[in-house]
Amino acid sequence: MNLAVVILAAGLGTRMKSATPKVLHQVAGRSMLSWVQTTAKELGAERMITVLGPESEHLEVAGEVVVQRERRGTGHAVQISAPHLEGFEGWVLVLYGDTALIRPETLRDMLTAGEQAGADLMVTGFEPQDPAKYGRLVVEKGALKAIVEFKDADEDQRALGLCNGGLMALRAPRSLPLLDRLSDDNAAGELYLTDMVELVNADGGTCLVHSVPEEEVKGVNTRQELAEVEALMQARLRRQHMLAGVTLQDPSTVYFSYDTEIGQDTVLEPHQVFGPGVKIGSNVTIKASCHFEKAQVADHAVLGPFARLRPGTIVEAGAKIGNFVETKNAHLAEGAKVNHLSYVGDATVGEGANVGAGTITCNYDGFNKHQTEIGAGAFIGSNTALVAPIRIGDGAIVGAGSTLTKDVPDQDLALTRAKPQQISGGAARLRKKLSKS
Ligand code: UD1
Ligand code: CA
Repeated sequence: MNLAVVILAAGLGTRMKSATPKVLHQVAGRSMLSWVQTTAKELGAERMITVLGPESEHLEVAGEVVVQRERRGTGHAVQISAPHLEGFEGWVLVLYGDTALIRPETLRDMLTAGEQAGADLMVTGFEPQDPAKYGRLVVEKGALKAIVEFKDADEDQRALGLCNGGLMALRAPRSLPLLDRLSDDNAAGELYLTDMVELVNADGGTCLVHSVPEEEVKGVNTRQELAEVEALMQARLRRQHMLAGVTLQDPSTVYFSYDTEIGQDTVLEPHQVFGPGVKIGSNVTIKASCHFEKAQVADHAVLGPFARLRPGTIVEAGAKIGNFVETKNAHLAEGAKVNHLSYVGDATVGEGANVGAGTITCNYDGFNKHQTEIGAGAFIGSNTALVAPIRIGDGAIVGAGSTLTKDVPDQDLALTRAKPQQISGGAARLRKKLSKS
């Protein structure tokens, strides 16, 4: 079945109170528009047209863009997309850029149902607990006769519980020419896409309702609704990861991104945040309260509690990153350990190396970033500052409290330690002196 998708995203989004166009606000690490575009791609759309307002004209979006200079309603937005679909035969699916939760499976079911019934127009319908201001679906003998906008509806129509989810599929070429017949003679003075139902019926076509879960047609107009959609998306992602064999000890405290990958039998203690670009292997233990961005972690690694893996972190199998450790552009080879209170940035840590508590790679001199290399099996004593660029050789030992500025050859012992001074009985004498003054 041929498919074209038109994404309506020209709304001003005034109630977001934001300098950012509404559809670019993020849900689980990517924009709402990108969620919808991904859904369109997953459905195998051959054509994807996004209708943007003039203030978003500069945006780089996938597919074709139509700019709606005057926001004259949902019908108008589709009308100005129609010339791009000249000669197209198949379904034209209209999605909203602010409705990120719609699932490709749901839309595929709707299109299949429309195809099987020989329908010309399919509408997403749902029965919300609070029908609020949604358009009402007027159904007779199983067929959709009309959609009446709340503003235009009478008492009886407002009492109807079945509402318009907004998302709609139109069969082309039959329905597209009918777009020209839309009128703005209504309470809002807009061209309603919903009026297509009556036009298709009058033309002898068939319109049907496809029931969808309420959450999937939930749009975002305010930050409050953005948070609600985020919560629903997170619930969905948590479910997916658990179904795929990941243990979440307290699911509601774990936040995923759209692309988080986690292997089987990995265990997540409470309170985790996964930014985009994170891939975790299987049998990994992630103790409480870690934060991840663009990081890769191999099987059997042990992380946290309170670890921060920043972009470019690669943790190989069985390596350990402990509490209050921050890594960035860091590669930890198999079995390497950075267990406590360290910063490892622009660095490689060799196989089985042990980086002691409080070790800092001094990678930045205020102008440039420099690389630290810690060899396989090296041992870095606690509270060491490694001033990059620097290489600590394989099997080398660095004494605690060192500040190193020069490379340490393999198997060497390196120390920078001031000679300790010890004054016999000095503490008592100092106390006495201080207490008098
Ligand atoms: C629409 C439906 C209503 C349905 C509801 C579901 C119409 C006339 N009404 O109402 O029956 O219950 O969705 O949420 O279609 N947009 C444009 N250009 C425009 C106008 C809108 O691109 O000129 C975009 C908006 O950015 C938004 C979408 O179309 O993504 C829907 O517009 P909106 O104004 O929210 O429609 P509703 O009044 O909620
Ligand atoms: Ca709306």
